[in-house]
Amino acid sequence: MNRSQTALLHAKEPQDSAFCASPVLPTTQLAENRLEAVREAVDAILLNCPDPLQVRDGAVHLYGVAQACALIALRRGEDAELAAIAGMLHDLSTYADAYTPDHAARSAALARTLLRRLALFSAEEVDQVCAAIACHSEKAQVHTAFAEVLLDADVLQHGLYNPTLFLLEEEVARFRALQEEFSLAR
Ligand SMILES: [Fe+2]
Repeated sequence: MNRSQTALLHAKEPQDSAFCASPVLPTTQLAENRLEAVREAVDAILLNCPDPLQVRDGAVHLYGVAQACALIALRRGEDAELAAIAGMLHDLSTYADAYTPDHAARSAALARTLLRRLALFSAEEVDQVCAAIACHSEKAQVHTAFAEVLLDADVLQHGLYNPTLFLLEEEVARFRALQEEFSLAR
């Protein structure tokens, strides 16, 4: 199955009862599926990484955080589509530049360029996503409700990727709060 076919599958055609039985959000046509458009742009950057392990790590982390964003956003009444898009983009400069320092600000700038180029988002939506990305490394601080979705999703993905490993010190409190929020065993 090629990427277009996969995107079509995820677009949830209205006439297909198997996919329309319980849509989480209103169904979208392929041309308007903004999350898939962002994913295609992210995939193009990831697949350009010279190290296959970096491709793997990037895909696992960015897709994992995006899904965690959707879960947390739906739980808290935030915009799940924009949250998933923030998750897809939040560490992108790390993979685009193979350069980690200041990656939150660099990824926010890259996300702004990418989202403007796609021309699918309002200026307010671009600002909301990029503001969350810009502060996502500040795990000890409390930010806007939307940004908190991204920060917590980043921690949740780290914690669930391998539950036997220790989290970074600044992530422990957030992970414990998520365990309470989602009634996870401690
Ligand atoms: Fe991250």
